[in-house]
Amino acid sequence: TLRGVVAVDGPSGTGKSTTARGLAIRLGARYLDTGAMYRAVTLAVLRSGLPLDVATTSADGSDDVAAVALGARVTVSTDPAEPRVRLDGEDVAAEIRGSAVTGAVSAVSALTAVRHHLVDEQRRIAAEALEDGAGIVVEGRDIGTVVLPDAGLKVFLTASELVRAGRRDAENTAAGRADSPDSRADLARRDKLDSSRAASPLRPADDAVEVDTSTLDIEGVLDRLQDLAEDRD
Ligand code: C5P
Repeated sequence: TLRGVVAVDGPSGTGKSTTARGLAIRLGARYLDTGAMYRAVTLAVLRSGLPLDVATTSADGSDDVAAVALGARVTVSTDPAEPRVRLDGEDVAAEIRGSAVTGAVSAVSALTAVRHHLVDEQRRIAAEALEDGAGIVVEGRDIGTVVLPDAGLKVFLTASELVRAGRRDAENTAAGRADSPDSRADLARRDKLDSSRAASPLRPADDAVEVDTSTLDIEGVLDRLQDLAEDRD
């Protein structure tokens, strides 16, 4: 197993990003938000103007959508104090959380060619952290199952649908997003697409520790995860 590597998976609205980032800060580790990478690639596809239904029908990467996605230059910073994501050098952190990207990201991330490309990059970033003697907390949907199956600790976060929708609403309000990209129905739709797709569907790894965050606040989840991480090391 890979000591120093923590995989955090789960559906949206479980507090995954806040938790994974907070855990990285507590552990003095790096932080990688793989969802931001899928979102940035999706933004590139949207900007290309290509119709997105192509993405849902051709999953072999032979279509134009996959070509644009593979050509997009997505770079991330792994400092948990200041996570950044850039598309061709442009900071797109705000734009990738909007309703256009949120509505299209599950279709683009179902493409196997896109997944292979980003998974390679995610593994490279994790390996680089370990080479530098740093730990890394990697957050997504398939980290424990596909990207880093040797992670020393795998956490799968869950929360009731009602709690998850409430958290997304609060997040959108706090960020001043009036268009609320993730209503309860949108959230359920995205989770269904993510869980039912053929290529690395969202599911807990056999050896993942499931943590239900419905009745815990962020500090409570962080305390639990920090205990788990320190037990493994
Ligand atoms: O975590 P976040 O909500 O930003 O992820 C956005 C979307 O990216 C997910 O709904 C999913 O379709 C995709 N994703 C994925 N695999 C990952 C991370 C995200 O397919 N490891």
